[in-house]
Amino acid sequence: MEKKIAEILGNFTEAAKNASDSDAVEKLRVAFLGKKGEIAELMKDLKSAPAEQKKEFGQKINLLKKDVESKLGELAAAIEKKELEALINSAESYDVTMPSGVETGSYHPITLVQRELEDIFAAMGFTIEDYDEIVDDYHCFEALNIPKHHPARDMQDTYYLDNGQLLKTHTSAAQNAIMRKYGAPLRAIFPGRCFRNEAIDACHENTFFQMEGIMIDKDISISNLIYFMKTMLSEVFQRDVKVRLRPGFFPFVEPGFELDISCQVCGGTGCPSCKNSGWLELCPCGMIHPNVLIAGGIDPEEYTGFAFGLGLTRLAMMKYGVKDIRTFNSGNLKALSQFESL
Ligand code: PHE
Repeated sequence: MEKKIAEILGNFTEAAKNASDSDAVEKLRVAFLGKKGEIAELMKDLKSAPAEQKKEFGQKINLLKKDVESKLGELAAAIEKKELEALINSAESYDVTMPSGVETGSYHPITLVQRELEDIFAAMGFTIEDYDEIVDDYHCFEALNIPKHHPARDMQDTYYLDNGQLLKTHTSAAQNAIMRKYGAPLRAIFPGRCFRNEAIDACHENTFFQMEGIMIDKDISISNLIYFMKTMLSEVFQRDVKVRLRPGFFPFVEPGFELDISCQVCGGTGCPSCKNSGWLELCPCGMIHPNVLIAGGIDPEEYTGFAFGLGLTRLAMMKYGVKDIRTFNSGNLKALSQFESL
Protein backbone atom coordinates (compact mmCIF):
# COMPACT_ATOMS: atom_id res chain seq x y z
CA MET A 1 0.00 0.00 0.00
CA GLU A 2 2.77 2.38 0.91
CA LYS A 3 4.46 1.65 -2.33
CA LYS A 4 1.26 2.45 -4.15
CA ILE A 5 0.89 5.77 -2.33
CA ALA A 6 4.42 6.79 -3.20
CA GLU A 7 3.82 5.75 -6.79
CA ILE A 8 0.67 7.86 -7.10
CA LEU A 9 2.40 10.88 -5.64
CA GLY A 10 5.27 10.36 -8.08
CA ASN A 11 2.88 10.04 -11.01
CA PHE A 12 1.04 13.16 -9.97
CA THR A 13 4.20 15.23 -9.59
CA GLU A 14 5.39 14.09 -13.00
CA ALA A 15 2.06 14.84 -14.69
CA ALA A 16 1.80 18.22 -12.96
CA LYS A 17 5.10 19.30 -14.54
CA ASN A 18 3.57 18.84 -17.98
CA ALA A 19 0.29 20.61 -17.28
CA SER A 20 0.51 23.90 -19.09
CA ASP A 21 -3.06 25.22 -19.20
CA SER A 22 -6.27 25.12 -17.19
CA ASP A 23 -7.70 22.29 -19.29
CA ALA A 24 -4.72 20.13 -18.34
CA VAL A 25 -5.19 21.02 -14.66
CA GLU A 26 -8.80 19.93 -14.84
CA LYS A 27 -7.80 16.65 -16.47
CA LEU A 28 -5.32 16.08 -13.65
CA ARG A 29 -7.98 16.73 -11.06
CA VAL A 30 -10.28 14.19 -12.62
CA ALA A 31 -7.50 11.61 -12.98
CA PHE A 32 -6.36 11.81 -9.37
CA LEU A 33 -9.21 13.23 -7.30
CA GLY A 34 -12.20 12.31 -9.42
CA LYS A 35 -14.82 9.71 -8.45
CA LYS A 36 -13.01 7.08 -10.48
CA GLY A 37 -9.56 8.66 -10.02
CA GLU A 38 -6.42 7.07 -8.64
CA ILE A 39 -7.10 8.00 -5.02
CA ALA A 40 -10.67 6.74 -5.13
CA GLU A 41 -9.35 3.43 -6.47
CA LEU A 42 -6.89 3.30 -3.59
CA MET A 43 -9.74 3.79 -1.15
CA LYS A 44 -11.36 0.71 -2.65
CA ASP A 45 -8.16 -1.28 -2.10
CA LEU A 46 -8.24 -0.19 1.52
CA LYS A 47 -11.22 -2.44 2.10
CA SER A 48 -9.15 -5.54 1.42
CA ALA A 49 -6.19 -4.43 3.59
CA PRO A 50 -5.48 -6.38 6.84
CA ALA A 51 -7.68 -5.01 9.66
CA GLU A 52 -4.77 -3.85 11.87
CA GLN A 53 -3.33 -1.75 9.03
CA LYS A 54 -6.56 -0.15 7.91
CA LYS A 55 -6.34 2.86 10.18
CA GLU A 56 -2.76 3.68 9.32
CA PHE A 57 -3.30 3.29 5.61
CA GLY A 58 -6.49 5.27 5.78
CA GLN A 59 -4.63 8.18 7.36
CA LYS A 60 -1.89 7.95 4.76
CA ILE A 61 -4.35 8.02 1.91
CA ASN A 62 -5.98 11.07 3.44
CA LEU A 63 -2.64 12.79 3.69
CA LEU A 64 -1.97 11.92 0.07
CA LYS A 65 -5.33 13.36 -0.92
CA LYS A 66 -4.68 16.62 0.95
CA ASP A 67 -1.22 16.85 -0.57
CA VAL A 68 -2.54 16.35 -4.10
CA GLU A 69 -5.37 18.83 -3.47
CA SER A 70 -3.06 21.57 -2.26
CA LYS A 71 -0.52 21.02 -5.04
CA LEU A 72 -3.29 21.07 -7.61
CA GLY A 73 -4.65 24.30 -6.10
CA GLU A 74 -1.22 25.95 -6.35
CA LEU A 75 -0.80 24.74 -9.91
CA ALA A 76 -4.24 26.02 -10.91
CA ALA A 77 -3.54 29.46 -9.40
CA ALA A 78 -0.18 29.71 -11.15
CA ILE A 79 -1.63 28.72 -14.50
CA GLU A 80 -4.56 31.10 -14.14
CA LYS A 81 -2.16 33.94 -13.45
CA LYS A 82 -0.07 33.00 -16.46
CA GLU A 83 -3.11 32.83 -18.71
CA LEU A 84 -4.38 36.17 -17.48
CA GLU A 85 -1.05 37.80 -18.12
CA ALA A 86 -0.96 36.39 -21.63
CA LEU A 87 -4.46 37.79 -22.23
CA ILE A 88 -3.47 41.23 -20.96
CA ASN A 89 -0.31 41.23 -23.05
CA SER A 90 -2.15 40.26 -26.19
CA ALA A 91 -4.63 43.10 -25.49
CA GLU A 92 -1.77 45.57 -25.87
CA SER A 93 -2.42 45.53 -29.59
CA TYR A 94 -6.02 46.62 -29.00
CA ASP A 95 -6.36 50.28 -29.89
CA VAL A 96 -9.56 51.84 -28.61
CA THR A 97 -9.17 54.75 -30.99
CA MET A 98 -9.34 52.51 -34.08
CA PRO A 99 -12.55 52.76 -36.15
CA SER A 100 -14.66 49.75 -35.31
CA GLY A 101 -15.33 48.76 -38.90
CA VAL A 102 -18.99 48.19 -38.00
CA GLU A 103 -21.22 50.11 -40.35
CA THR A 104 -24.21 51.86 -38.85
CA GLY A 105 -27.48 50.68 -40.28
CA SER A 106 -30.05 52.85 -41.97
CA TYR A 107 -33.80 52.92 -41.78
CA HIS A 108 -35.95 51.26 -44.40
CA PRO A 109 -37.53 53.91 -46.65
CA ILE A 110 -41.01 52.81 -45.59
CA THR A 111 -40.08 53.30 -41.94
CA LEU A 112 -38.83 56.78 -42.79
CA VAL A 113 -42.06 57.75 -44.55
CA GLN A 114 -44.18 56.17 -41.81
CA ARG A 115 -42.40 58.13 -39.07
CA GLU A 116 -42.68 61.34 -41.01
CA LEU A 117 -46.42 60.83 -41.40
CA GLU A 118 -46.79 59.92 -37.75
CA ASP A 119 -45.18 63.24 -36.82
CA ILE A 120 -47.41 65.17 -39.20
CA PHE A 121 -50.61 63.56 -37.93
CA ALA A 122 -49.57 63.65 -34.28
CA ALA A 123 -49.13 67.39 -34.67
CA MET A 124 -52.72 67.55 -35.93
CA GLY A 125 -54.02 65.75 -32.83
CA PHE A 126 -54.17 62.16 -34.11
CA THR A 127 -53.13 59.25 -31.91
CA ILE A 128 -51.01 56.49 -33.44
CA GLU A 129 -52.37 52.98 -33.04
CA ASP A 130 -50.96 49.54 -33.60
CA TYR A 131 -52.99 46.55 -34.74
CA ASP A 132 -52.65 42.84 -35.50
CA GLU A 133 -51.53 41.46 -38.84
CA ILE A 134 -53.61 38.32 -38.35
CA VAL A 135 -57.28 39.23 -38.06
CA ASP A 136 -60.66 37.57 -38.37
CA ASP A 137 -63.24 37.84 -41.10
CA TYR A 138 -65.46 40.06 -38.96
CA HIS A 139 -62.86 42.79 -38.51
CA CYS A 140 -61.44 42.63 -42.02
CA PHE A 141 -64.78 42.53 -43.82
CA GLU A 142 -68.08 42.15 -41.95
CA ALA A 143 -67.60 45.09 -39.58
CA LEU A 144 -66.71 47.18 -42.64
CA ASN A 145 -70.03 46.59 -44.31
CA ILE A 146 -68.61 43.88 -46.58
CA PRO A 147 -70.85 40.86 -46.07
CA LYS A 148 -69.85 37.35 -47.11
CA HIS A 149 -70.01 36.88 -50.90
CA HIS A 150 -69.90 40.63 -51.55
CA PRO A 151 -68.04 41.21 -54.83
CA ALA A 152 -65.79 43.80 -53.13
CA ARG A 153 -64.04 40.83 -51.52
CA ASP A 154 -62.70 39.75 -54.91
CA MET A 155 -60.16 42.56 -54.91
CA GLN A 156 -58.92 41.56 -51.50
CA ASP A 157 -58.10 37.90 -51.85
CA THR A 158 -55.60 37.04 -49.17
CA TYR A 159 -53.91 34.26 -47.24
CA TYR A 160 -56.09 32.25 -44.89
CA LEU A 161 -55.00 30.28 -41.87
CA ASP A 162 -56.41 26.84 -41.08
CA ASN A 163 -58.35 28.29 -38.17
CA GLY A 164 -60.26 30.70 -40.44
CA GLN A 165 -58.21 33.77 -39.54
CA LEU A 166 -56.51 35.71 -42.32
CA LEU A 167 -53.65 38.07 -43.02
CA LYS A 168 -55.21 41.51 -43.09
CA THR A 169 -55.80 42.90 -46.55
CA HIS A 170 -56.04 46.52 -45.45
CA THR A 171 -55.47 48.63 -42.38
CA SER A 172 -59.23 49.32 -42.34
CA ALA A 173 -59.38 45.99 -40.49
CA ALA A 174 -58.50 47.93 -37.33
CA GLN A 175 -61.29 50.52 -37.65
CA ASN A 176 -63.85 48.60 -35.62
CA ALA A 177 -61.52 47.79 -32.72
CA ILE A 178 -60.28 51.37 -32.52
CA MET A 179 -63.80 52.83 -32.57
CA ARG A 180 -64.77 50.40 -29.81
CA LYS A 181 -61.65 51.25 -27.83
CA TYR A 182 -62.04 55.04 -27.86
CA GLY A 183 -65.60 55.86 -28.91
CA ALA A 184 -66.31 59.29 -30.44
CA PRO A 185 -64.91 61.88 -30.89
CA LEU A 186 -61.83 60.20 -32.28
CA ARG A 187 -58.75 60.98 -34.38
CA ALA A 188 -56.37 58.13 -35.02
CA ILE A 189 -53.93 56.82 -37.58
CA PHE A 190 -52.86 53.21 -37.76
CA PRO A 191 -50.01 52.16 -40.02
CA GLY A 192 -49.61 48.47 -40.76
CA ARG A 193 -48.46 45.70 -43.04
CA CYS A 194 -51.09 44.29 -45.37
CA PHE A 195 -51.23 41.19 -47.53
CA ARG A 196 -53.02 40.30 -50.74
CA ASN A 197 -52.87 37.51 -53.23
CA GLU A 198 -51.48 39.64 -56.05
CA ALA A 199 -49.70 38.95 -59.28
CA ILE A 200 -46.44 40.76 -58.54
CA ASP A 201 -45.10 43.39 -60.91
CA ALA A 202 -43.42 46.83 -60.73
CA CYS A 203 -46.42 48.32 -58.93
CA HIS A 204 -48.05 45.36 -57.12
CA GLU A 205 -46.78 43.39 -54.17
CA ASN A 206 -48.36 40.70 -52.02
CA THR A 207 -46.96 42.40 -48.91
CA PHE A 208 -47.19 46.16 -48.57
CA PHE A 209 -47.85 48.93 -46.08
CA GLN A 210 -50.80 51.19 -45.64
CA MET A 211 -51.63 53.88 -43.18
CA GLU A 212 -55.23 54.25 -42.21
CA GLY A 213 -56.63 57.36 -40.65
CA ILE A 214 -60.04 58.06 -39.17
CA MET A 215 -61.53 61.19 -37.74
CA ILE A 216 -64.95 61.08 -36.13
CA ASP A 217 -66.64 64.04 -34.54
CA LYS A 218 -69.75 66.18 -34.82
CA ASP A 219 -70.18 67.84 -38.25
CA ILE A 220 -67.21 66.27 -40.01
CA SER A 221 -67.54 66.68 -43.77
CA ILE A 222 -65.68 66.03 -47.01
CA SER A 223 -63.98 69.42 -46.75
CA ASN A 224 -62.28 68.27 -43.53
CA LEU A 225 -61.09 65.18 -45.36
CA ILE A 226 -59.67 67.19 -48.27
CA TYR A 227 -57.98 69.64 -45.90
CA PHE A 228 -56.17 66.88 -43.99
CA MET A 229 -55.10 65.09 -47.16
CA LYS A 230 -53.69 68.27 -48.74
CA THR A 231 -51.86 69.30 -45.58
CA MET A 232 -50.33 65.87 -45.26
CA LEU A 233 -49.17 65.72 -48.89
CA SER A 234 -47.63 69.17 -48.93
CA GLU A 235 -45.72 68.30 -45.73
CA VAL A 236 -44.44 65.02 -47.15
CA PHE A 237 -43.34 66.40 -50.50
CA GLN A 238 -42.45 69.87 -49.26
CA ARG A 239 -44.13 71.31 -52.32
CA ASP A 240 -47.52 71.49 -53.95
CA VAL A 241 -48.40 68.13 -55.44
CA LYS A 242 -51.08 67.83 -58.09
CA VAL A 243 -53.95 65.70 -56.81
CA ARG A 244 -57.26 64.62 -58.25
CA LEU A 245 -60.30 63.16 -56.58
CA ARG A 246 -62.36 60.55 -58.40
CA PRO A 247 -65.41 58.71 -57.21
CA GLY A 248 -64.42 55.33 -55.83
CA PHE A 249 -66.45 52.51 -54.35
CA PHE A 250 -65.68 50.94 -50.99
CA PRO A 251 -68.56 49.47 -49.00
CA PHE A 252 -67.33 51.11 -45.78
CA VAL A 253 -67.47 54.70 -47.04
CA GLU A 254 -70.25 56.75 -48.57
CA PRO A 255 -69.43 58.77 -50.58
CA GLY A 256 -66.08 57.19 -51.46
CA PHE A 257 -63.18 58.60 -53.44
CA GLU A 258 -59.87 57.75 -54.96
CA LEU A 259 -57.29 60.40 -54.33
CA ASP A 260 -54.60 60.25 -57.00
CA ILE A 261 -51.36 62.21 -57.13
CA SER A 262 -49.43 62.99 -60.26
CA CYS A 263 -46.67 60.41 -60.70
CA GLN A 264 -43.51 61.75 -59.07
CA VAL A 265 -41.32 59.27 -60.90
CA CYS A 266 -42.07 60.58 -64.41
CA GLY A 267 -43.61 63.93 -63.50
CA GLY A 268 -46.94 62.92 -65.00
CA THR A 269 -45.83 61.99 -68.49
CA GLY A 270 -46.31 58.24 -68.04
CA CYS A 271 -43.96 55.41 -66.98
CA PRO A 272 -44.22 51.77 -65.83
CA SER A 273 -44.71 52.87 -62.18
CA CYS A 274 -47.95 54.64 -63.04
CA LYS A 275 -48.93 52.24 -65.81
CA ASN A 276 -48.33 55.10 -68.24
CA SER A 277 -51.27 57.10 -66.94
CA GLY A 278 -49.29 59.87 -65.23
CA TRP A 279 -51.37 59.36 -62.08
CA LEU A 280 -51.01 57.11 -59.10
CA GLU A 281 -53.77 55.93 -56.83
CA LEU A 282 -52.44 56.97 -53.47
CA CYS A 283 -55.19 57.39 -51.00
CA PRO A 284 -58.66 55.92 -51.22
CA CYS A 285 -60.90 57.72 -48.78
CA GLY A 286 -64.42 58.75 -47.99
CA MET A 287 -67.03 59.45 -45.35
CA ILE A 288 -67.45 56.52 -42.96
CA HIS A 289 -70.58 54.51 -43.75
CA PRO A 290 -73.25 54.67 -41.01
CA ASN A 291 -73.24 50.85 -40.75
CA VAL A 292 -69.54 50.95 -39.89
CA LEU A 293 -70.12 53.54 -37.18
CA ILE A 294 -72.94 51.44 -35.74
CA ALA A 295 -70.74 48.32 -35.74
CA GLY A 296 -68.14 50.39 -33.88
CA GLY A 297 -70.70 51.42 -31.27
CA ILE A 298 -70.98 55.03 -32.50
CA ASP A 299 -74.30 56.73 -33.21
CA PRO A 300 -74.34 57.91 -36.86
CA GLU A 301 -77.14 60.37 -36.05
CA GLU A 302 -74.80 62.22 -33.74
CA TYR A 303 -71.40 61.71 -35.33
CA THR A 304 -69.90 61.61 -38.79
CA GLY A 305 -66.35 60.95 -39.85
CA PHE A 306 -63.92 60.35 -42.64
CA ALA A 307 -61.50 57.53 -43.27
CA PHE A 308 -58.55 57.21 -45.58
CA GLY A 309 -56.25 54.33 -46.45
CA LEU A 310 -52.98 55.82 -47.55
CA GLY A 311 -50.71 53.54 -49.54
CA LEU A 312 -47.54 53.90 -47.51
CA THR A 313 -45.51 51.78 -49.90
CA ARG A 314 -46.77 53.83 -52.85
CA LEU A 315 -45.98 57.05 -51.05
CA ALA A 316 -42.43 55.86 -50.36
CA MET A 317 -42.08 55.07 -54.09
CA MET A 318 -43.22 58.55 -54.99
CA LYS A 319 -41.20 60.35 -52.37
CA TYR A 320 -37.93 58.60 -53.15
CA GLY A 321 -38.52 57.94 -56.85
CA VAL A 322 -38.34 54.16 -56.42
CA LYS A 323 -39.40 52.72 -59.76
CA ASP A 324 -40.09 49.15 -58.75
CA ILE A 325 -42.17 48.20 -55.70
CA ARG A 326 -40.28 44.91 -55.43
CA THR A 327 -37.22 46.84 -54.24
CA PHE A 328 -38.78 47.32 -50.79
CA ASN A 329 -38.97 43.65 -49.89
CA SER A 330 -35.83 42.72 -51.79
CA GLY A 331 -33.38 42.97 -48.90
CA ASN A 332 -31.04 44.63 -51.39
CA LEU A 333 -28.96 46.88 -49.14
CA LYS A 334 -27.42 48.72 -52.04
CA ALA A 335 -30.85 50.04 -52.91
CA LEU A 336 -32.36 50.28 -49.44
CA SER A 337 -29.57 51.88 -47.45
CA GLN A 338 -29.25 55.05 -49.47
CA PHE A 339 -32.04 57.00 -47.81
CA GLU A 340 -31.50 59.58 -45.14
CA SER A 341 -30.97 57.97 -41.77
CA LEU A 342 -32.75 59.36 -38.76
N1 PHE B 1 -59.13 49.83 -47.19
C1 PHE B 1 -59.23 50.27 -48.55
C2 PHE B 1 -58.29 49.44 -49.41
O1 PHE B 1 -57.27 49.03 -48.96
C3 PHE B 1 -58.89 51.72 -48.69
C4 PHE B 1 -59.81 52.69 -47.99
C5 PHE B 1 -59.57 53.06 -46.69
C6 PHE B 1 -60.87 53.23 -48.66
C7 PHE B 1 -60.41 53.96 -46.06
C8 PHE B 1 -61.70 54.15 -48.05
C9 PHE B 1 -61.45 54.52 -46.76
O2 PHE B 1 -58.55 49.20 -50.56
